[in-house]
Amino acid sequence: MKIATSFLSSNNIPKDLKKLNDTDVDFIHVDIMDGKFVKNKTKSFTDIYKYTSKRLDIHLMVEHPKKDIISYSLLNVDTISIHVEIKDKIDELIDLIHGYGIKAGLAISPGTNVDELDKYLDKIDKILIMSVVPGEGGQEFLMDTIDRINLIKEKTSNKNILLEVDGGINNITKDYVDVDILVSGNYILSSEDYQQAINSLR
Ligand code: DX5
Ligand code: ZN
Repeated sequence: MKIATSFLSSNNIPKDLKKLNDTDVDFIHVDIMDGKFVKNKTKSFTDIYKYTSKRLDIHLMVEHPKKDIISYSLLNVDTISIHVEIKDKIDELIDLIHGYGIKAGLAISPGTNVDELDKYLDKIDKILIMSVVPGEGGQEFLMDTIDRINLIKEKTSNKNILLEVDGGINNITKDYVDVDILVSGNYILSSEDYQQAINSLR
């Protein structure tokens, strides 16, 4: 199981990212919020390359992601995920991401019908399944995510699409989901020993 750490709940991002450099975590998950798609707003984290040696997994919770795609494409990025709920032309944004040689992901919020993903399944590399309402770290895992994952697995069984679950993942809830990548923020950052917490999720 691959693990991505979200630093959304961090009180000291440079310090936590440096500590994570000493672990075997696979990715740093970067949550970007615009104050419109979700209520909260984050600053731009394009300076984090100064603190992390890990590859980045970018999660854009924004209505108009084009400019963020362009600025994050310059960093050491594995995947950029945009939300399937946005009104912008998703096909074009996926092409933009692919143009930089970066994997394109579609994130889906808990209230959204999983069939919304259907028309993009031949274009995307990853589905980021939200197991909390996007907007903040430290929320509780939503149990109906389990059924949603199963529905998405049926749709993607003959496709080359990675599945990633994001929100409320800890050493208990990780057993409810069997996917390629787990995102975990609060559970790792609030632990005494980051490596031990990461091991308990694998
Ligand atoms: C929620 C974010 C998640 C979240 C994960 O809007 O997309 O990445 O911060 O953090 P935890 O593990 O604390 O739920
Ligand atoms: Zn996220």
